[in-house]
Amino acid sequence: MRKISMVDLKAQYDKIKPEIDNAISEVINTTAFINGPAVKEFQAALENYLGVKHVIPCANGTDALQISMMALGLKPGDEVIAPDFTFIATAEVIALLGLTPVLVDVDPDTFNISPDAILKAITPRTKAIVPVHLFGQTADMDAIMKIAKQYNLFVIEDACQSIGSDYMNADGEWKKSGTIGHIGCTSFFPSKNLGCYGDGGAIFTNDDALAIKLRSIVNHGMTVRYYHDDIGVNSRLDSIQAAVLKVKLQYLDAYARARQQVAAAYDHAFKGRPELIVPAHFTRSTHVFHQYTLQVKGVDRAKLQEFLASKDIPAMIYYPVPIHLQKAYLDPRYKAGDFPVTEQLSHTVMSLPMHTEMDSEQLNHITSSVLEFLDSKNI
Ligand SMILES: Cc1ncc(COP(=O)(O)O)c(C=O)c1O
Repeated sequence: MRKISMVDLKAQYDKIKPEIDNAISEVINTTAFINGPAVKEFQAALENYLGVKHVIPCANGTDALQISMMALGLKPGDEVIAPDFTFIATAEVIALLGLTPVLVDVDPDTFNISPDAILKAITPRTKAIVPVHLFGQTADMDAIMKIAKQYNLFVIEDACQSIGSDYMNADGEWKKSGTIGHIGCTSFFPSKNLGCYGDGGAIFTNDDALAIKLRSIVNHGMTVRYYHDDIGVNSRLDSIQAAVLKVKLQYLDAYARARQQVAAAYDHAFKGRPELIVPAHFTRSTHVFHQYTLQVKGVDRAKLQEFLASKDIPAMIYYPVPIHLQKAYLDPRYKAGDFPVTEQLSHTVMSLPMHTEMDSEQLNHITSSVLEFLDSKNI
């Protein structure tokens, strides 16, 4: 059996090696390493795929979030609402810009930000909401956009884990995750659903004026060379990464289907087991399974993880500590117990290997090992 990993980038690369190698060689041969044609081509291809007017490539997903908040003119003291259950980058950039992160709890089924919790957290200082489409399905964007409209707030979608997910709005229209709010952000970190071979990210918007601002900020705040109208940053997607992404974008939907098949096999194997809650599917959104995340009940999670490791099966805890209990984010406004769903999830979630190259032998080994543990006296 092939070695099981959380993501198998090598096997994925092997399948598209000639295309990737050609694309990389072309950049090297032309030496157009920064802002070369590959970047423009990928940008256009992604705009077309997403059905969005503007894609602004940048250096990573964290920068995408930060640059979005800068472009919206958010100022120290402004409050930005974000989920407590997410990767740290979401809250990190809010804090880094001197804005006030206002953390809220998530839905216990989808793990996505709770619209009711958003409503309760709004104050006269609230300026923006950052829904995170966690693990690959889009948050309840209709409810979030309705709140945003009512209170005149910006919505920055953190679509770092959800690229390719489709969301059906109340009018029955399908939109791509990340293209519903004022701005959407994604990450092309290698293990992401659309991953490059280094760091990369992008910002999406349908707003022409915002697009100009975002493009300026990613490039030192200049639209005309050496004339700086904004305080910006240096955050570019390099041409080699863009060339890789242009190739891989063609396979993104097929990759999602492969992930969905793995998820369906896991769901089937774990059906009816009271110790495991399989991922819920939000009816409005497709799930692209950046992660397949179980909740374990009445099971010693650490022992299960150890047992799987003894069978060469990795399993990860995303995320073991809620943001409000992270050392760097301790704040007198929050204490343990304030976000019961997130706190509970941090003790019960476990993500199993999920990638595009999983074969049935590997899947059987994983599912039978999980079930073997549950049937043993170890739990
Ligand atoms: C939800 C979320 N937000 C932000 C990021 C940051 O992206 P990057 O690692 O490209 O900076 C990630 C990924 O790592 C993420 O999963």
